Amino acid sequence: MSPDNLIDGRAIAELIHQETAQRIAALKTRGLQPGLVFVRVGEDPASQVYVGMKERVSSRLGIQSSTQVFSEKTTESELLKVIDRLNRDPKIHGILVQSPIPNHINSAAIYSAVSPDKDVDGFHPVNMGKLLLGDRTGFVPCTPAGVHELLIRSHVPIEGAEVVILGRGNIVGKPMAALLLQKARHANATITLCHSQSRNTAEHCRRADIIIAAIGVAGFLKADMVKPGATVIDVGVNRVADASAKAGTRLVGDVDFARVKPKAGKITPNPGGVGPMTIALLMANTVRAADQSLRN
Ligand code: GUN
Repeated sequence: MSPDNLIDGRAIAELIHQETAQRIAALKTRGLQPGLVFVRVGEDPASQVYVGMKERVSSRLGIQSSTQVFSEKTTESELLKVIDRLNRDPKIHGILVQSPIPNHINSAAIYSAVSPDKDVDGFHPVNMGKLLLGDRTGFVPCTPAGVHELLIRSHVPIEGAEVVILGRGNIVGKPMAALLLQKARHANATITLCHSQSRNTAEHCRRADIIIAAIGVAGFLKADMVKPGATVIDVGVNRVADASAKAGTRLVGDVDFARVKPKAGKITPNPGGVGPMTIALLMANTVRAADQSLRN
């Protein structure tokens, strides 16, 4: 842990990478190299950066990875054909279709087409359903799984805790709630999920032992919304104007970090908190998918 109240996501992600690398080495002795394919549609600059980062970590850990890039104009049926081919390829254990997908494509149809056994993103309805039911044989979406690991490995008490989740998206808010409400060790929390139509969001936050901000509004969580000593996890990635920055913009989270930090018991920096954990859990999911392929 850091000397102050920061939760060091980079350091915790590195520990998980070491565990994953050991599992990869063990699979290699059995003649198997995990294979992961990224599918990227269009030229969203953020997606290019994210997929590039995921590819670099894959190759560092010994996962065979590649990216298939498709034009903004690709049709849904073309994409479904690609996914079908990847589903049948025995060398591929994980398939990740980077979000966002262009609007003319039905993203639910795409995520449903990925084989649940290769759905290392955990977006397939079968995996989402398993998560809700508490069936651990499914894949959990990487960002909520990463936040969960951050809390556990930072020794933040979760059982019985009041947790406020800001944001009800399918990638973070909803699966995060499903994960922490389970009748299970490191879960058993009381969950309040606030969203754009919620009344009294600030009041809910002030009661919380843990606040997980994934609402997509820069600096949304202010110091007066945080109980002294609460744990604050910032999932947000928002681009804001900054005349002093070279590019004229910079990335900030959903938390007013400078003012919330002195009040929080523990807090994630952003960057350097949740982001590295998302990648760590993607790698872990991929290795599990490869391992399970030996049993199918
Ligand atoms: N876009 C933002 N986060 C994610 C993620 O976890 N997985 C995918 N596929 N796309 C994303």
